[in-house]
Amino acid sequence: MKKFKLGIIGLGTVGSGVVECLQKNGSLFTSRYGFDYEIAKVAVRNLNSKRLVEVDQSLMTTDPQEVVDHAEVDIVLELMGGEEPARTLVLQALNNGKVVVTANKALIAEYGPEIFAAAEENNTRIFFEASVAGGIPIIKALHEGLSSNGIDSIHGILNGTCNFILSCMENGESFADALAEAQRLGYAEADPTLDVGGGDAGHKAAILASLAYGQWFTKETVSVKGIDKLELTDVEFARDAGYRIKLIANILKTVDNKVSIDVQPTLVPQQSMIGSVMDAYNGIKIHGNTVGDTFFYGQGAGKDATSSAVVTDIIDASQAIASETISNYPGFKPFDGADGAADLSSVVSRFYLRVVVEDSPKVLSSITGILGDHNVSIASITQKESHEKAVPVVILTHEVLTKELEEAIKAISELPVVKSQPHTFRLED
Ligand code: HSE
Repeated sequence: MKKFKLGIIGLGTVGSGVVECLQKNGSLFTSRYGFDYEIAKVAVRNLNSKRLVEVDQSLMTTDPQEVVDHAEVDIVLELMGGEEPARTLVLQALNNGKVVVTANKALIAEYGPEIFAAAEENNTRIFFEASVAGGIPIIKALHEGLSSNGIDSIHGILNGTCNFILSCMENGESFADALAEAQRLGYAEADPTLDVGGGDAGHKAAILASLAYGQWFTKETVSVKGIDKLELTDVEFARDAGYRIKLIANILKTVDNKVSIDVQPTLVPQQSMIGSVMDAYNGIKIHGNTVGDTFFYGQGAGKDATSSAVVTDIIDASQAIASETISNYPGFKPFDGADGAADLSSVVSRFYLRVVVEDSPKVLSSITGILGDHNVSIASITQKESHEKAVPVVILTHEVLTKELEEAIKAISELPVVKSQPHTFRLED
């Protein structure tokens, strides 16, 4: 029986989940695939930290170099996250001819071309299913299940932490309490501003767009807005109008064969499929030009979801190594799927707009006048009675050119009666 030796960098939430899964399902893998796994080396930050799993102390090191240079290691698992030193270690592992499995979306999104080139040069591969949408096999879907399709759009929830926070806020919990709970449950990144600021979903959107259209989309081509400016009042206004706020990644092939990519808080109908995705779950709709709509749903963050994807990659890698077909495995192959990134200001959409204003005569008419001057048509306008001096006014628009809405917002924010920077979120029916 073939035994594969694993070198692990990082034994935090994901690393522990991977070891647990290998321990739990080891005999199943042996009977199903004929492989056995042995952990040869594990690099951790601190040898004395309390761990979620037991690993032989003699295998532990604080030097990740020992993992990437280990003569017997077949597969290196990069589970430390972040850009550096992860990038350097992954490149070294590939240059040493190792197969690499990673859950690191920042690494793939920021350095994909360099990393895939290193894998190609060394006749090896990097597997990265866990980098997008946790336990949902979305990369496999793009590479394999939907390969007969041109991709028209990818639309969905790609960050479990934000979806968990938004779900908690619907129950009246504060943003700060919900984030603390997401961190406790192991959903959030080490730096949670990447989650709530939209950067994590932006990285994932860039990876999906790059795979779907066969060209590398850098972070400069992704417009990102997080949920960090969202307030309970937005969640309540949305609910009263029949919507839920979700952090949505929207990847769309435009009529001129370009790709628009953005991540932003979006009001979606409460009863829609995407509106029903709650807690740390992700939901992604892919529209293929042959299959039509497909919808993928599953746990998008956390130990078990992420380790499920990592271990699937380990099994795929093992099968490819065993059959000597590793260099046939799809890494990133450029193809002619689109003509680059679209200018997002030309995207047409409905919007939610919240403006905090002084409660005095002519205020509403000055705001609606500016919107009208920029061809923004109003679908509804709400101001709840209040005894405060400053009150929120919420406007839902009809479809409008993003550029025109942005210009209107700039003019509205300069009105003396407007008390803080207006908030806008996209709205979808
Ligand atoms: N922090 C990420 C999320 C983990 O919340 O989705 C999974 O990539």
